[in-house]
Amino acid sequence: MYKHINSFISPQQIQQKTNLSAITNFTLLGFGDQPGLQVLLSLIFLGIYILAMAGNLIITILIVIDVHLHTPMYFFLGNLSCLEICYTSTILPRLLFSLLTGDKTISVQGCIAQYFFFGSLASSECYLLAVMSYDRFLAICKPLRYTSLMSGRICLGLITVSWMSGLLSNTIITSLLLKQSFCGPNEIEHFFCDLAPVLKLSCTNTSLVKLVIFILASMDTIPPFLLTLISYVCIIISVLKMKTKASRHKAFSTCSSHLIVVTLFYGSLICVYIIPETNTLKGLHKTFSLFYTVFTPMLNPIIYSLRNKEVKIAFYRTASKAVGVVSFP
Ligand SMILES: *[C@@H]1O[C@H](CO)[C@@H](O)[C@H](O)[C@H]1NC(C)=O
Repeated sequence: MYKHINSFISPQQIQQKTNLSAITNFTLLGFGDQPGLQVLLSLIFLGIYILAMAGNLIITILIVIDVHLHTPMYFFLGNLSCLEICYTSTILPRLLFSLLTGDKTISVQGCIAQYFFFGSLASSECYLLAVMSYDRFLAICKPLRYTSLMSGRICLGLITVSWMSGLLSNTIITSLLLKQSFCGPNEIEHFFCDLAPVLKLSCTNTSLVKLVIFILASMDTIPPFLLTLISYVCIIISVLKMKTKASRHKAFSTCSSHLIVVTLFYGSLICVYIIPETNTLKGLHKTFSLFYTVFTPMLNPIIYSLRNKEVKIAFYRTASKAVGVVSFP
């Protein structure tokens, strides 16, 4: 309806509109406002946030202090955990705050800032997951050249590129967002400030901005997705070619947990960003967004630690050392 009105405005009205454009707050509608549901959801999300923070912190600490875990694979995993600590912290504390207080307003700048941090970290996560699958590809398909192809310097370079790529493209996207003017309505049908719902509220012409954003967002997701896909296809082919069942099992067990994480993350991303939003899919989009914003950061440490013997051993070794320090000072 508003679109309709906007396309028939005279210069005079434009003048009026720029005066009107002083919307300073958005309302994040979140999950409706039935009181019972709010309490239930805040308990669930609080639990998830605590689990995600604790799990990822434990993994990060283990990887930093345990020398047995000083290999590229665990450096990548440690960096992923660090990233996910920041990543959930851009969404969940704000969501918990509005669930607990009922205060759903967020300033326009705050909203764009939330998108900036969320977007940068999400793109970095795509790249980091791709780097992790490339690392597994080298370890399984090129085992003899692994140490030379994944040296400390290359490892550091790949991690730097992952962190930087997300930051760069989202700085551009955010500066474009900051130039938009918002003149109402101000309700965002989501639980955080994602790009599409915010852009929908802009009353400036967004077609060029949308094109630029589409190109940048594709650069952030399609190359890492393809790299991940190709790595796993190669891994699966070479695992199937292995002679003995034991070697097949060993090779696949190291990367199956990673494959689960990648599938969850990209599966929900594709559901939200590629399947077009229709009225019947509205609730579904929000639900699928929960997967990559809330559930994967909680699940990653569980998937990696429960399925990984080395992480479990490192955990007991470090825990027993810590207990030893406490009881025999
Ligand atoms: C992240 O990667 C760098 C480079 O390999 C490594 O030195 C660092 O320890 C990693 N961070 C964590 C928390 O694992």
